[in-house]
Amino acid sequence: MDINQVKQEDEKDPLSKFRAYFFHPKNELYFDGNSLGKLPLKAQKTLHEVIQNQWGEGLIRSWNRYWLDIPKKIGAKYAQLLGVEKEEISIGESTSVRLYQILHALISSGLFPKHLTTDILNFPTDLYVMEGLKKNFKISPITVVSYPNEIEADIEKLKRTIKNHPGIICLSLVSYKSAFLYPMRLLNRWAAKHSSIIVWDLSHAIGAVAIDLKKTETKIALGCTYKYMNGGPGAPAFLYVNKITQTNLFNPIQGWFGHQRPFDFEKNYIPAQGIGRFASGTPAILSMAAMEAGVDIVLEAGIESLRNKSVLQSELLLKMAQEELIPLGFLIESPIEPEYRGSHVTLSHDGAWQICQALLAGSQSHPKIILDFRPPNFIRFGITPLYTQYRDLWTLVDTLKTIMNTKSYLNFSVEKTTVT
Ligand SMILES: Cc1ncc(COP(=O)(O)O)c(C=O)c1O
Repeated sequence: MDINQVKQEDEKDPLSKFRAYFFHPKNELYFDGNSLGKLPLKAQKTLHEVIQNQWGEGLIRSWNRYWLDIPKKIGAKYAQLLGVEKEEISIGESTSVRLYQILHALISSGLFPKHLTTDILNFPTDLYVMEGLKKNFKISPITVVSYPNEIEADIEKLKRTIKNHPGIICLSLVSYKSAFLYPMRLLNRWAAKHSSIIVWDLSHAIGAVAIDLKKTETKIALGCTYKYMNGGPGAPAFLYVNKITQTNLFNPIQGWFGHQRPFDFEKNYIPAQGIGRFASGTPAILSMAAMEAGVDIVLEAGIESLRNKSVLQSELLLKMAQEELIPLGFLIESPIEPEYRGSHVTLSHDGAWQICQALLAGSQSHPKIILDFRPPNFIRFGITPLYTQYRDLWTLVDTLKTIMNTKSYLNFSVEKTTVT
């Protein structure tokens, strides 16, 4: 593939203007938007204003003037993106806490058999939360469905498991290692038919994959907003609970922000009507203020256009990988069919850790390339259609070829850092 061909793709790109909405550090390429999205310039401005005027000058008065409504305002934008009603989204906490709240509520509700199921492709925090709940509730062991590899779920095996062990299932719509994308509607229908419910973790999907929670008959979903939604480090998570399901579920963390009248300071806890009951404590206003720009940009770009570009770019990267990287010892660890793939591409190599270090370090001839490593030997290349350019993919492959051909990666330590 020649660089001029690739540059032409950038020139034709209908989403190219969105790159200028973000801050870009000099002389580096970023393929880690699936871990932490880039900084929207508007978020920088908003945070400055909120800190200076609303916090600095306004102090406590800013709660009534600006802050109390922020979670609802942002929730409405996430609702628009996911095709649901604004009264079905709660913003706040982390994804891990949201998962705990909702699984606890589901187990306590008695609406579903008390059996927890997940699969081997799910993110570890989801499994840890389930393990903890299993201990708290003294319920039967969790079923963790395994597959022959870490690339794809065996949907038939998953369906058989749900049929044999109905209950509460937790799956990540896009798996964090391979980017496998599950057939959401098919599984939701299957679960409903077998007295079960699926809680979907959308962390690696939202902002890069078009998701319509109504059309897919999803009842509960949650996820991170700091990845493709560019909400900022540790940005509050979102939780979706459809209206019918909401009425039967109660938040195990009964804090005053989930009370019907928090500012009446009553002695007894009365849960707020609807989704409001899933709030617990005071919202993290600075983080919420920072996250709004990210969802605004995704809405302006349009999720269908983002998905189209993500598929085109992933296909280009996979084609270059097939032609130029497989002969150098890499393997493709993501599904090949785009309908089963989210927005990152994963390759493996025995020297993956050292290759990542060589990319991160850059060289005289190549920019620094930021991406991430996942054990045992995976390298993930996150494609964020809002700012990834076609030419960046070409440079990435060209750099990998140089590193491999010169064996320069062998000069890097095999010792791991804390954040990989
Ligand atoms: C699929 C998935 N779920 C949950 C989490 C953890 O979310 P949090 O740290 O906000 O609890 C992550 C983090 O990367 C993730 O990828």
